[in-house]
Amino acid sequence: MGSGWWPDEVAHAGVEHLDPEYAAAFDRKSPTDWSETVESLSRLGAGPTSTVVDIGAGTGAFALAVQPYVGRVIAVDPSPAMVALMRSRGIEAVEGGFLTFEHLDGKVDLVHSRHALHHLPDFWKAVALDRVARMLEPGGALILADIVYSFAPSEAATAIEQWLERAPTNPAQGWTAAELVEHVRHEQSTFSWLLEPILVRAGFDITDRRYSENQIFAAYTCRLR
Ligand SMILES: C[S@@+](CC[C@H](N)C(=O)[O-])C[C@H]1O[C@@H](n2cnc3c(N)ncnc32)[C@H](O)[C@@H]1O
Repeated sequence: MGSGWWPDEVAHAGVEHLDPEYAAAFDRKSPTDWSETVESLSRLGAGPTSTVVDIGAGTGAFALAVQPYVGRVIAVDPSPAMVALMRSRGIEAVEGGFLTFEHLDGKVDLVHSRHALHHLPDFWKAVALDRVARMLEPGGALILADIVYSFAPSEAATAIEQWLERAPTNPAQGWTAAELVEHVRHEQSTFSWLLEPILVRAGFDITDRRYSENQIFAAYTCRLR
């Protein structure tokens, strides 16, 4: 995409994600048991002949977890540091993002993305989800999880302050209150009631939706109509 108005995804990827040291320490900061996601993949029909794309793949933890169960996993991330780390782990990793990745070998069966779409403002989220829909086979699936606020705007202060109060103090063990403040002030997490119509508009039916108890995280399973 050569147009001067198209965003530079690397410039908005978060400076920390471009830092090889941050990338190397990321899995300890964000340890994840992917077993539930792996199970949902097979419920969605993904199997040994399926192609799965993970967008905003980070260190490739999801790619490593699902690789044994599907035909091909392509892990996409705009950060050269993350891509280098993934390649060192034997993952098929591509430098790109929601707005730049092009899958040239036909359509894919499933797209996964966790904690990455919030790097884009809502206008670009809509463009990104339209691009995801075009990548997928008809009936293909999207598993999307992110920081998405399900509280009402009038409840923002209470919800955000409770989230900050429960944050760890050691940055090696999770996101500290100072890091969460940065997220709330400068990143593009949106409300569930804004994101969900964008998913529907892109052509998806939301077949499963989960909000965390603190109303800060949302996870969606979607089918392309
Ligand atoms: C918080 S990390 C999440 C990594 C991984 N998905 C996980 O859940 O562990 C966010 C990732 O999104 C990537 N990212 C930033 N902007 C992006 C964009 N426009 N498109 C795709 N990924 C992006 C960052 O480089 C970073 O690796």
